Amino acid sequence: MLAIEARCLGYRIAVQDPDPAGPAGQLADVRIEGAWDDIAAAKVLADHSDVITIDTEHVPAHLLEQLEGLKPVRPSSHVLRVVQDRLEQRRFLASHGLPQVRHSSLARAEDLRIAAEAVGFPAVLKRRRGGYDGRGQLRVEGQSALAGAWKALGEAPAVLESFVEFEKEVSVLLARDLGGHIRFYPVAENVHRRSILRTTSVPAGIPPELASEAEELGTRIASGLEHVGMMAIELFVTREGRLLVNEIAPRMHNSGHFSFGACGTSQFEQHVRAICGLPLGDPSLLRPAVMLNLLGDLWREGTPAWDAVFAHPNAHLHLYGKRVASPGRKMGHVLVLGEGVDQARAAVEAIAADLERQRAPERAG
Ligand SMILES: Nc1ncnc2c1ncn2[C@@H]1O[C@H](COP(=O)(O)OP(=O)(O)OP(=O)(O)O)[C@@H](O)[C@H]1O
Ligand SMILES: [Mg+2]
Repeated sequence: MLAIEARCLGYRIAVQDPDPAGPAGQLADVRIEGAWDDIAAAKVLADHSDVITIDTEHVPAHLLEQLEGLKPVRPSSHVLRVVQDRLEQRRFLASHGLPQVRHSSLARAEDLRIAAEAVGFPAVLKRRRGGYDGRGQLRVEGQSALAGAWKALGEAPAVLESFVEFEKEVSVLLARDLGGHIRFYPVAENVHRRSILRTTSVPAGIPPELASEAEELGTRIASGLEHVGMMAIELFVTREGRLLVNEIAPRMHNSGHFSFGACGTSQFEQHVRAICGLPLGDPSLLRPAVMLNLLGDLWREGTPAWDAVFAHPNAHLHLYGKRVASPGRKMGHVLVLGEGVDQARAAVEAIAADLERQRAPERAG
């Protein structure tokens, strides 16, 4: 989606991807096959580029630091260094006095007891590095299960977090340009299933004061990091109506995919504008919208029939061009625009039910 929008603005694109058949490469002028930590490949990328950006925070900060000597890198290696380590992220939030989940760090077996006492149960144990879509984290119900969970995560450095019985999850999406100006997308409401984002609805059903508070948090985080480009901040709304920061993503975000079709300027165009030193576009919502992620599970019996999507005049199918559909893998999404968010959500659920029905029941044994 970033490549599509960059193309619309007349840019040419070079892409480094470990997967030579990856979606962005299908639209690129130059394709470079290379792992995220392949510095030789990244130097070739830099040779071709006027500005370098990322679409995953798992590109090592030290690699970006080396590229910074060659070409502008936006966001910077500093942002990545803070964000790709959950503990560093939590330290950053603490040093800026931002509200977050109670947590404790774990580096060795002796830390287990101290962390448990500090955090309590239920809790979530998360590896400091490399997690996404719920991978690298486990819910822990009590002290007796903690050592097992720590082993199951490979005894890697981790953070133990208190499990939050939240009212809802929302994200605030923003773009920050080279001059430090910030523009916000409307706060979005997210529903996860098995730790993977299932739907995003906009506008989120939260009071305007809470939306302003979310923007205030966003400003302090993006400015504190001197970030350039799109950023998403995942938040829990507690039952008491407080906001807690769950995660910072210094990039375009799955919960902002609705903007590609539902907003004046998509998050992808906005990111291109920010990193290329252009003025930011208008992120206003044109119509209420609900996005449904399409996971690889739906492909178990082959590519689903999309009749239910096409039957709805305001539903839009977006497939990413991934060749292999494995369970839990995000293959595409459906965006439904509506008169109101409830109407769009009802249409999304009808489409989801149709797609689920197509999967043959699992055979016993
Ligand atoms: N401390 C917590 N309390 C309650 N629920 C949690 C907690 N941590 C994570 N979750 C649930 O699991 C989801 C995924 O967790 P998190 O955002 O930490 O992980 P991730 O794997 O890095 O996800 P992403 O794909 O967004 O990077 C959250 O959106 C939330 O629904
Ligand atoms: Mg997350």
